[in-house]
Amino acid sequence: MRAASVSDYRELARRRLPNIFFEYIDGGSYAEETLARNVRDLELIALRQRVLRDMSQLDMTVETLGQTLSMPVGLAPVGMAGMYGRRGEVQASKAATAAGLPFCLSTVGVCSVEEVAAKAAPPWFQLYMLKDRGYMKALLGRARDAGCPVLVFTVDLPVPGARYRDVRSGFTGSSGLSGALNTAWDGLTHPGWMWNVWAQGRPHSLGNVEGAVQQQGRRVTDFLAWIARNFDRSVTWADLDWVRENWDGPIVIKGVLDVDDAREVVRVGAQGLVVSNHGGRQLDGVRSSISALPRIADAVGADLEVFMDGGVRSGLDVLKALALGAKACFVGRPWAWALGAGGEAAITRMLGTLRSELAVAMILTGCNSVREAGRELLDLD
Ligand code: FNR
Repeated sequence: MRAASVSDYRELARRRLPNIFFEYIDGGSYAEETLARNVRDLELIALRQRVLRDMSQLDMTVETLGQTLSMPVGLAPVGMAGMYGRRGEVQASKAATAAGLPFCLSTVGVCSVEEVAAKAAPPWFQLYMLKDRGYMKALLGRARDAGCPVLVFTVDLPVPGARYRDVRSGFTGSSGLSGALNTAWDGLTHPGWMWNVWAQGRPHSLGNVEGAVQQQGRRVTDFLAWIARNFDRSVTWADLDWVRENWDGPIVIKGVLDVDDAREVVRVGAQGLVVSNHGGRQLDGVRSSISALPRIADAVGADLEVFMDGGVRSGLDVLKALALGAKACFVGRPWAWALGAGGEAAITRMLGTLRSELAVAMILTGCNSVREAGRELLDLD
């Protein structure tokens, strides 16, 4: 099958990846209500078709945090991407950089920040706060030394949401002989992945936090349990002072859904926020990102760069988010699926698809510049 749309990359990833990784990428928490809402609420928004308005010139570029993006899209941090494609974070970063877009490296990426910076370009760096502050300080120093321009501090994962698909697939909680056999069978029935990723990639370590894992004398054999033990849930807004002391550049707070929290982001002096529910992977039952966006953008859009992620599956969705107040959107699963489907080349094609879809949406809504996108692009009755 040749992939045309983002959902086609999902289907290809489903065929090519071991089941445990496909389900890990694809799934959400609990009943996956919020995951479904993210996608559905975007689908339900109607664009407003306009005609005969000289659409010969289109400007898709946006300026944000000292950078020019070739379109208002970035690659969201996705943990363990090196399991979905060989040195997956490097491949994704190369594709994003060539497309003129930011790639945000997860704290729990397989490739370290040094490897991504050396082989592709310095990524935006996503921070999860581990309890060991000495380790975190050193990690922020590593990100700074690698040249990362922006810190994205994810605040909606003090504890991992229960992901039932991971239990069913055996990704978490399975142990003993049956667990080992299940995992081995999953790998053996996907020989392309075994050869491409497992045999060649040393994918089983997490480059940025390997030291923290090793200090415990074990590897990450049960990822979510490791998170539960090591992530710091005592963090408060006051800890932003600590982050600021250890990071000179722009800070973006990721995982805000509430207007009062958005105002706190302004108060603590961060430069941006990502309206996000972690792709429906954390607290199931919360509202979709797109439905939370307008009131947050209205409240703090003049003071902060407001980004959003969650459920963006096309360039049409990107324009809807811009119309409701986002400066740019991030995509998570779309690039993880494309990586699993066909590596860097597939991510490049997927980004090309988003770009041409965005162009069509702009032309047929009469929007010449993404910087001017507003609610007049939508049919809101
Ligand atoms: C994520 N997300 C995420 N966020 C983060 O800040 N750090 C991380 O390590 C991860 N890891 C991760 C793994 C996987 C497999 C997924 C799907 C997501 C959340 C991610 O950055 C983003 O918020 C969502 O993916 C956005 O929703 P969509 O685009 O996947 O619908």
